[in-house]
Amino acid sequence: MIRVLFVCLGNICRSPMAEAIFRSRIEEEGLEGKIEVDSAGVGHWHIGSPPHQGTRDILEKKRIAATGMTARQIEAADWEEFHYIIAMDDKNISDLHTIRMKEGVVVQKLMDYVPAPVQQEVPDPYFTGDFEETYELVREGCEHLLESIKRNQAM
Ligand code: 4NP
Repeated sequence: MIRVLFVCLGNICRSPMAEAIFRSRIEEEGLEGKIEVDSAGVGHWHIGSPPHQGTRDILEKKRIAATGMTARQIEAADWEEFHYIIAMDDKNISDLHTIRMKEGVVVQKLMDYVPAPVQQEVPDPYFTGDFEETYELVREGCEHLLESIKRNQAM
């Protein structure tokens, strides 16, 4: 089983959006028994909260299930559980490196998987208010990430 953890700052806007999109793609491809997905935040402020209303609205509009997700904070033990820790921006990456580094665990930004991305980071809709823009970038990133995992794991 390959385990993928999406990470953002609060775990209420971008990373739960990525988790829901990625899970729906895994299901569409029949890879449920091979890839598992979760999300977490670097910060602690929203622990236990459901995704932001803007994230729930855009996922509902795109007919992607978002039930049962509650925010949690990343912990050092996650480096034992996950093969891919996928962040949204450069600050997430530097925060992750402060928490832990472990050989063999891939720590990358989601946009690193997109060839010639229009943006290097996924903008935070908590501040921009633009959940549609974030959705399009996350969706594209998830597509390329899934292709990369399938290629590397010979799925
Ligand atoms: P996220 O957005 O990292 O995409 O979940 C944020 C949500 C909450 C806060 C910051 C970013 N906050 O400062 O509370």
